[in-house]
This record gives sequence, C-alpha cells and structure tokens, in this order.
Amino acid sequence: MLPIDKETKPVSRISNIHARRVWDSRGNPSVEVEVRLESGALGRAIAPAGASRGTREAIDLRDGGSALKGMGVGRALASVNDVIAPALTGLDAEDQAVADDAILALDTSSLKQTLGGNATVATSLAVLHAAAAEAGKPLWRHAADHYGCTPSLPLPEIQIFGGGAHAGRRVDIQDFMIMVPGASSFDEVMEVTNEVYFAAGDIMASRGKMAGVADEGGWWPVFDSNEEALETLVAAIEKAGETPGERVVISLDIAASEFGRNGRYRLALEDREMDSGELVQMLGGWLDAYPIASIEDPVGEDDTDGMIEFTRRFGGRVQIIGDDYLVTNAGLVSEAAAQGACNAVLVKVNQAGTVSESVATFRTAMDAGWGAIVSARSGETEDVSISHLATGLGGGQLKVGSFTRSERMAKWNECLRIQDELGADSYVAGQPLSNTWWGKKNRKNNAA
Ligand code: PGA
Ligand code: ZN
Repeated sequence: MLPIDKETKPVSRISNIHARRVWDSRGNPSVEVEVRLESGALGRAIAPAGASRGTREAIDLRDGGSALKGMGVGRALASVNDVIAPALTGLDAEDQAVADDAILALDTSSLKQTLGGNATVATSLAVLHAAAAEAGKPLWRHAADHYGCTPSLPLPEIQIFGGGAHAGRRVDIQDFMIMVPGASSFDEVMEVTNEVYFAAGDIMASRGKMAGVADEGGWWPVFDSNEEALETLVAAIEKAGETPGERVVISLDIAASEFGRNGRYRLALEDREMDSGELVQMLGGWLDAYPIASIEDPVGEDDTDGMIEFTRRFGGRVQIIGDDYLVTNAGLVSEAAAQGACNAVLVKVNQAGTVSESVATFRTAMDAGWGAIVSARSGETEDVSISHLATGLGGGQLKVGSFTRSERMAKWNECLRIQDELGADSYVAGQPLSNTWWGKKNRKNNAA
C-alpha cells in the first residue's frame, strides 16, 4: 500500500481554476470562477456588485473605457486566470485560510484594487464550494463544520420599497424593509412578506405613488417625503392583517453616506439640509413614531461622532447596523465596539474580498455581543452562497433585497431547501432582535 502523506494526499488539492464572464441582475458583466480539485470536485461562485458602496470596501476591477459602460471584467478575469490560479493550484481547498492568505499575498494594495475584489471574492467563495463538494456536504453544513458553528436559519430582512441609489434617488432613504421576528418559521416569514409586499403595491397604485420596481425588486415609489414611505409601509402591514410592531416590524437602511459628507446631510426629496445632530434627532423621531426595530447606516461613513451619539441614545432599543460604516472589516468592528458605535454589522463577502476576512468580521461581531447580518448586493446573480453562509455561521440574519426577481428569490428559496434539510426548528426567529424594544416587549409578555 502506498504511504498516505502530503505528497499523495489530499485529493482536495486544487487542480484547476477558471474564470469566465457572466452577467448580473443589472445586465452588467460579472466574474464567475470555477475551482476544480484533483478528486474532480467542483466549486463555483459569482461576484456580486454594489451601487452604494463604502469608500473603504474592496474595489472591483473594471476595464473602464467606453465599451460596456466601462464595466468590463477582462482585467479581473485575467487576475484569476493568470495570477491567482497559478498561485492556488496545488493548495488544499479544505484549508480556506491558506487559500485566502495566498490570494492576499498577491495583492498588497489597500483595497484589493490590484487583483480586484470581484476576482478575489469569486475565487475565495469557489474554493469554499469546492471543499464542500469534496466533503459531500451542502455548503451550509461545510461552513458550520469548518468554522465550528451551530447552523441555524437566519432571520430575514426584506425590502418593500427601494430608494436612494437603487431608485434614481427618488426618495433619500435607501431601503424600507420589514422583518417578521414574530414568525415561528422561515416559511411563515415568506408568507407574511408576500402579503405585505402586495398590500404595499395595492396602496401605492391606488394613490398614484407607484413608478415601478427598483434595483433590488422592491417597489419604486413616488412619495413626497421620506415619512410618507414609512406611513405607507405601516398601512401596508395593517392591510395585510397584521398589527405593526407585533409579528412584523420595520427595518430601515438610511445609507446616509449617499446624501451626506463631513457631518452635513441633504435630503433632496424634502429640500432639507441638516447637520449630524439634526439627522440623529429626525431619525429618533421616526423611532418614536414607527415600529422600527433595526436601522442601518443612520449617519455617514465618516461621521464617527454621529454614530457614537446615535448608538448612545438609541442602541438600547434598536439594532444599529454598520454597512458602509464598517465595510465588513473586523478591525473596524473592534474599534466601533470599543467606541460604542453601532451594535451590529452587515457582512458582505465582496466588501471584504475573501471568505476568511468575512468570517473574521462575523466572529468579531458575535464576540462583541453584536448582531451580524449576511447581505447581498444590489447587483446580484443566481449565486446563493450567502444563504448557506448565513445558515452555516448561525445566529445570524440575512438581507437579500426584496421579494420579487429571481436573483433575490433564489436566496430565499435556497433557505427553504436548507430548512427541509436542517429542520424547521433550526430557525432563529426573533432571537437576533432580543435586545431591541421588540425583544424586550416579548420577553415581558412571555414572562407575564
Ligand atoms: P449596494 O447597497 O448597492 O452597495 O449593494 C446595499 C446596501 O446598502 O445594503
Ligand atoms: Zn446598506
């Protein structure tokens, strides 16, 4: 018998990596990577693309010029095929950290602009898929085993209206979403969301407020104020037969970096300019008036004082998520936790650029007692890796956009398939919101 050592084993060694151009939900080019192992196992992943990006996130490498609106990915494909592939060939795909470190060693730039975050993220995810295939496990199970996590189905955040950069800036606020923490299964969340989504559509159509569908599948509204969106959302929840704040709550992504810099903010829709203190005050008024349990990027990515002040005032009652503010960076999460800024982080794998860095961010958040929300981008594809990551890492939440369009529904539907494998009782339900007013109210009700 041949001795089994590192020379002849593992069969999980990477034998081939290939990148091809595919197209995303906006019709823009994207990078798909296939990683093949010596055993024949195959992993495949596609890079997503943001529209309201943080300035400190990994940068996609695009070709520029006039063709394809400058969005070509020829250079990113070359990064994978000519630079990353030779360096990763022969490595053990089961050691994700080694593969990711090898990628990082090839790009010492600050924001992965040498190789391109689109090249690195698709490769890194494809390695994880290949290792899962080799192990004969679904990706969520492989991720849970590999990272020593207890898998659970995530609590979804689902967009009803799009705004900001996703709807021609017709309203300033980017995402008006619902969460259904009071539902006892993932399946029930889907059902309630369907009712609220179409109730919102009916109300908007009857009031002449409907312009179409925004980037992430939510309704594209023609509201006269940002608060009209909140009022309409409350009306939609009621029309769906729900009491706002009971089973269903509101979640907002303010994406304030899109309308503010240096502590000055301009709400174009209402023709109002304000400083950081006034923005915090205005949002605080919304928290008093509407059943909002979660709010993302309430101030700009450069407004540290504003985020600390917002968290000091409202962190005891709502989830405060840093997206552009933290850009899936473990170091920034640690720093923010020490400062008392935010109490949750959005985890976008392509913001970090590799799986290992994203998992480090997720863990740092969990260790700090924070929430962690695995998230899609506004430019998406049929790739469902994030449904598996959110489940495999456990304890988390999932933000995917709205409740229409297949690049969104693919992620929700994948969670339903996982639910069948994992069991309906593996759903975290409202647990991630336990430190918000919603969680406190329900604890009291349950105790009574
Ligand atoms: P994106 O934004 O357009 O950059 O993907 C989504 C978000 O802000 O959560
Ligand atoms: Zn965001």
